[in-house]
Amino acid sequence: METPAPAPLAETLAAIAAADPQALEGIRVAALGKAGWVTAALKTLGAMTPEARQAQGPRIQALRSEIAGAIEARKAVLDAAAREAQLAREGLDLTLPVTAAPRGSVHPVSQVMDELAEIFADLGFAVATGPEIEDDWHNFTALNMAETHPARAMHDTFYFPDRDADGRQMLLRTHTSPVQIRAMVQQGAPLRIIAPGRVYRSDSDATHTPMFHQVEGLVVDEGIHLGHLKWTLETFLKAFFERDDIVLRLRPSYFPFTEPSVEVDVGFAMDKGRRVLGGDGDAPGHGWMELLGSGMVNRRVLQAAGVDADRYQGFAFGVGVDRLAMLKYGMDDLRAFFDGDNRWLAHYGFSPFDQPTLSGGVGARA
Ligand code: PHE
Repeated sequence: METPAPAPLAETLAAIAAADPQALEGIRVAALGKAGWVTAALKTLGAMTPEARQAQGPRIQALRSEIAGAIEARKAVLDAAAREAQLAREGLDLTLPVTAAPRGSVHPVSQVMDELAEIFADLGFAVATGPEIEDDWHNFTALNMAETHPARAMHDTFYFPDRDADGRQMLLRTHTSPVQIRAMVQQGAPLRIIAPGRVYRSDSDATHTPMFHQVEGLVVDEGIHLGHLKWTLETFLKAFFERDDIVLRLRPSYFPFTEPSVEVDVGFAMDKGRRVLGGDGDAPGHGWMELLGSGMVNRRVLQAAGVDADRYQGFAFGVGVDRLAMLKYGMDDLRAFFDGDNRWLAHYGFSPFDQPTLSGGVGARA
């Protein structure tokens, strides 16, 4: 058998040190594979004389293990580098801020309700709630609305067909005023609450939907008078619309549950065909917009709720939340509020990070 020309050791070791995984496998096959030159050298031992074998054996074995060792070492280096590269590629930096935009948005009605709660909390008002399925006593009778009151008509109010187990006529509440009754019955006087929530009336056009939102305000204490009502509404509206030039006009009105009753108008200016609240409604180019109903709590209402009407007085107001949202954020069709159209929500909705706070401002950034 022909002795294969021994590839120089130094050259092989240098090639191993520089090899990539593929070249390394080639070098291994060429040296240590079945037909490799080191393997061939090992095969020559059999034909040698014992003396020659004794001399050549350890030399060839040493050559074989030096090359095998170098290949192992290079392989370890290459594997480690490959692992490093993979870790770098697949690594997740958990300290990085989230970059994906939050999906969904806060509905303007929810945003405005949060703003209202924030403003009134600062004035010492708690948030009260009541059921949307209400009984006729809380919704009408206790609020001094006579059996003949037009709001009680079947075509204005959604009644349930059957009476409940206690014989009560149930309905979808037509305003948030029944929460006044519930709050007074439960907590007595003195009292300071707002009650935001859904209300229902049989009405539907561009400015009316069968379901809409109101916020009720109620203060009951000793010595409460119309001045307190006016100051509270003025303070609230200035904070809500974030303008100091909000001007109110109080007009005599009628609600069965308040006496006297006051309709509140707010002065506005025309700006590019749009009404913008602010300024004296009697100034040139200005006008008055009817915004809310209010008044001093009728003593019959206090009595119905078990409050001593000789000792306590109160004021109350009710205002449409959807209306407030439209005026502040510039939408003009109420029906779009309840369509659930994603494009509308993406445009008019708010970021969940836009929490109204007194320190940060109750108006969301546009
Ligand atoms: N409840 C009345 C309405 O729905 C509003 C109102 C509330 C008026 C409180 C006066 C006092 O129209």
